[in-house]
Amino acid sequence: MRQSRKLDHLKYSLALKDGPNGSGFSDISLVHNCLPNLSWNDIDISTSIAGISLSHPLIINAITGGANDVTSINECIAEFASLTNTAMAIGSQYAALENPEVQHSYKVVRQKNPHGVIFANLGAYVTPEQAQIAVDMIEAQGIQIHLNVAQEIMMTEGDRDFTGYLANIASIVDKVNVPVIIKEVGCGIAREQAILLSDIGVKAIDVGGTGGTNFLAIEAARSQLEANLETLSWGIPTAISAAEIISVLPNHIDMMVSGGIRTSLDVVKSLALGGAATGMATPIVRMLYEKDIDYAVSWLQQFLHEIQRYMLLLGADNIRQLGKTPLIISGYSKDWLMARGIDVTKYAINRKHG
Ligand SMILES: Cc1cc2nc3c(=O)[nH]c(=O)nc-3n(C[C@H](O)[C@H](O)[C@H](O)COP(=O)(O)O)c2cc1C
Repeated sequence: MRQSRKLDHLKYSLALKDGPNGSGFSDISLVHNCLPNLSWNDIDISTSIAGISLSHPLIINAITGGANDVTSINECIAEFASLTNTAMAIGSQYAALENPEVQHSYKVVRQKNPHGVIFANLGAYVTPEQAQIAVDMIEAQGIQIHLNVAQEIMMTEGDRDFTGYLANIASIVDKVNVPVIIKEVGCGIAREQAILLSDIGVKAIDVGGTGGTNFLAIEAARSQLEANLETLSWGIPTAISAAEIISVLPNHIDMMVSGGIRTSLDVVKSLALGGAATGMATPIVRMLYEKDIDYAVSWLQQFLHEIQRYMLLLGADNIRQLGKTPLIISGYSKDWLMARGIDVTKYAINRKHG
């Protein structure tokens, strides 16, 4: 069952469109700096998340594993990650905890990318011991714990009991020997839950907002259910969720921004909002399916080149500096944030993280 679900997720993520809810990035504008006082070579796009150094700010977010048929795509993603020095997360390893025979579909990423940054991935219901097994399975430098309540309740066979997650995450944080990153998978994280998660010692929070791959739509398609537009629009747009989270996040906890990151400008806006890194899933897997690794490598080189270009135009010579550049939040995102008591002028003139 779990193996065929993995294949369905890949199939439908490639077949369906992003949305219908947007990511909110169109409400964010950056302010051109005509006197950057920088030369191209001054610009450093390296960053770090949860204390782990990254050569650039785009992470391949959790995609797959757990079925024989997805081993080759994981191999391909890992080869791309290795060639481009890109950090990657693996898909949920729960399948391998249930059935050790599918461990190779995950371990292949470490074999293909022995020195790269790789994150383990599991749901918030696992025991700390299971989380440690997942980390050890792929010698991961960190572990993502995903929150996907909306997806589960759309799944006919999904979980229905979501009690005790916060306490469980706290014990994973205490007992696992690598940093824990909490991530949503497409409905975003509000400020109230970001505070709770920060208080229990997670090292980073991945926004995982709306605007990109929509797991409600994927699960509805899998179950051949008609889901209405209102249901499929559930969640917090990525840019809004990022602004909510950063408004309460202590400086020692990093924010990762994902969910509908599609362009280099989306990445730059995410970092300007205060993100330390960004994540992308479906476009990368689509590229590897539809084109080839050489194409994906040159696409990434161009993508990083564009990030560098925007940084120059904003007068930011590194990612932390980018988080201090002014940005304008308008439209629906502004209305939302103001209604939530978050002063958008702080982003425009006097940056909190300045
Ligand atoms: C085929 C597929 C499988 C996924 N499986 C997982 C998973 O096992 N665990 C997880 O945390 N996220 C999973 N995700 C979610 C992604 O990591 C990411 O949060 C989501 O796709 C939004 O990013 P995007 O809009 O760039 O695709 C999966 C995504 C895809 C496309």
